[in-house]
Amino acid sequence: MAKLEILIAPDPRLKKVAQPVERVDDEIRRLMDDMLDTMHGARGIGLAAPQVGVSKRVLVVDVARENEDPRPIRMANPEIVWESDDSICVEEGCLSLPDQYAEVERPERIRVRYIDHENEIRELEADGLLSKCIQHEMDHLDGVLFVDYLSALKRKMILRKLAKTRRQDAVSV
Ligand code: NI
Repeated sequence: MAKLEILIAPDPRLKKVAQPVERVDDEIRRLMDDMLDTMHGARGIGLAAPQVGVSKRVLVVDVARENEDPRPIRMANPEIVWESDDSICVEEGCLSLPDQYAEVERPERIRVRYIDHENEIRELEADGLLSKCIQHEMDHLDGVLFVDYLSALKRKMILRKLAKTRRQDAVSV
């Protein structure tokens, strides 16, 4: 497995709509494994392919705590087939928006259909952290970041801060 570079906002590649995969073959399986490795290395609980510069509808999540065994989930072409009417509003972060957090409202429970790493169609019902995480990662596949749910003013503030941090990093290297 290899670690990949995680793109940081504002990067135009994070705003693109990703393409469905035809089937989960060795290449996509390797991508999923590399993404899990990258995500665990960055102490994240979810990562979508556009975040590593690959415009494909692939995501990985693992919401196990650090003292628990890993519970990696690999998904291609995920689709929400049902969502609950009740929603939850919880603070979210994102590996592409380091150190930025904001509350986002999302349906509490979902049922998602996807292709797994063995190219089998599966369905998963999720609630709580797992539900929120899958929805967040699915947004990435459509070029949506959690800051897009905030007011234009808040979003601009966060993106300007990140652009500035990036420039400072560039100077110090
Ligand atoms: Ni994210």
